[in-house]
Amino acid sequence: MAIYALAELEPSIHPDAYVHPDATVIGDVRIAAGASVWPGTVLRGDNGYIELGSRSNVQDGCVLHCTQRHPTILGENSAIGHSVHVEGATIGTGCLIASGSVVLNGTVVEDGGMVGAGAVLSYDSRVPSGHIALGVPAKTRPNTAFGPEQIAAVVDSYVARAKRFRAELRRLD
Ligand SMILES: CC(C)(COP(=O)(O)OP(=O)(O)OC[C@H]1O[C@@H](n2cnc3c(N)ncnc32)[C@H](O)[C@@H]1OP(=O)(O)O)[C@@H](O)C(=O)NCCC(=O)NCCS
Repeated sequence: MAIYALAELEPSIHPDAYVHPDATVIGDVRIAAGASVWPGTVLRGDNGYIELGSRSNVQDGCVLHCTQRHPTILGENSAIGHSVHVEGATIGTGCLIASGSVVLNGTVVEDGGMVGAGAVLSYDSRVPSGHIALGVPAKTRPNTAFGPEQIAAVVDSYVARAKRFRAELRRLD
């Protein structure tokens, strides 16, 4: 597993979290119980910190970074889809940041907010609760496309998947 300390900066990973062996976790990264981190994802807490709330997931091929001014914080029961870049943003509880999106410094996604696939949120953007950000540059509107129960289903499926991977994944090479 690629988990690194950088001088005094050391990841803190709850024993009930799941970090896939091909994810990379460096420095001040705090991962709560039931959270999961999937292959090819990089969490680099070398300048500021990254925090993943309980039962949240960061799917394959994501890059999460942070700054001293803007840590990257993901609340509880939230999902970050495949190939997402988050740089110094605060994402609340019950949020979905969908595939291929870019979420930049100082952005706040309030509880229950969503970022649609491929959206780019520039500096200091805000996605209110129950809203979705779509497009490049992203525009925000009430979310009628993907409800809180659908976000919860994604989260639940990843909690279950992490348990399965912990029990059944075998490396063959
Ligand atoms: C946002 C999303 C839910 C929209 O799904 P949809 O079924 O196409 O939704 P709708 O049919 O209601 O489309 C709503 C409008 O948004 C547009 N739209 C849909 N997805 C869009 C996107 N990613 N970016 C920009 N516009 C988008 C549609 O063209 C439509 O435009 P209109 O109102 O002008 O006609 C979908 O694009 C998405 O991001 N899904 C998340 C997938 C994911 O990450 N799942 C979890 C991973 S496990």
